[in-house]
Amino acid sequence: MTNSKITDVFTDDIQTQIETIAEVVTASKYVVGMTGAGMSVESGIPPFRGAGGLWTKYGTPRMDDYSRFKKDPSGWWKRRINEEIDEHIIELRDALVNAKPHQGHHALAHLEAMGCVHSVITQNIDALDEKAGITNLIEIHGNRTKLRCIDCGNRVALGNFVPLYTPEPCVECKGIVKFDTVMFGEPIPDDVMKNARSEINKADCILAIGTSATVRPASGLIWIAKSNGAKIIEINPVKTKLTPICEVSLRSTAGEALPLLAKSLSK
Ligand code: APR
Repeated sequence: MTNSKITDVFTDDIQTQIETIAEVVTASKYVVGMTGAGMSVESGIPPFRGAGGLWTKYGTPRMDDYSRFKKDPSGWWKRRINEEIDEHIIELRDALVNAKPHQGHHALAHLEAMGCVHSVITQNIDALDEKAGITNLIEIHGNRTKLRCIDCGNRVALGNFVPLYTPEPCVECKGIVKFDTVMFGEPIPDDVMKNARSEINKADCILAIGTSATVRPASGLIWIAKSNGAKIIEINPVKTKLTPICEVSLRSTAGEALPLLAKSLSK
């Protein structure tokens, strides 16, 4: 078991690091996965920041999407229907349509099934965690396959809705409906934030996978867990803001490290 100094894969080979992570997970009572866009890169979905990131390629988008939606929902939907959307949205959407869970998603679901990971908070909207079989899942930035009422929070599956028209008002309260995906400037829905905070308060170990830990409030949850005494483990090909507070910071990918971790813990 390493002491609390940062152990970095440059000094040890990956298996040694995996065994150390397995020790920390085994010694923990409640492990919460916190995944970011890097979790889905091996499913062909580009991240936002860093190498191959959409923001790296197209620049950071405007942050007022939600206020523009609230001001004029039908105008927002009309622009969407007429494909008046940013290039990065088109690139992201095309990657999302055919994406499937990769071995890292399946390994994380296996870690949950083995009781090694107790819940997963994902910042991803791609629904790949759910498809891989993860059950105790909190999609803190929403799910691209759902619509959500901004008045009562009711969610419905997109089904065969394609944005060719403005969706009907909410069936529950006649409120305004948008994609469940959280827009820039939109608060995280209360029910989701409450669940996420409850999981973080139970966690004595956070497995941060594929996140730059830069976007609040999601990333702030990791620091809250740390301040509660939780051990932080990071799986990321590059160092991040999290690295200095990690018990183990493993330079690897989700698709490489998670199957090795699941194998190590199923021994
Ligand atoms: N495996 C693991 N990590 C990876 C991989 C991989 N195969 N490939 C890249 N990464 C890492 C990158 O090094 C980076 O640190 O994944 C991280 C992705 O960071 P971001 O693109 O910033 O994604 P994320 O942390 O999820 O961003 C949070 O920002 O733009 C918003 O709403 C968006 O949910 C997103 C939020």
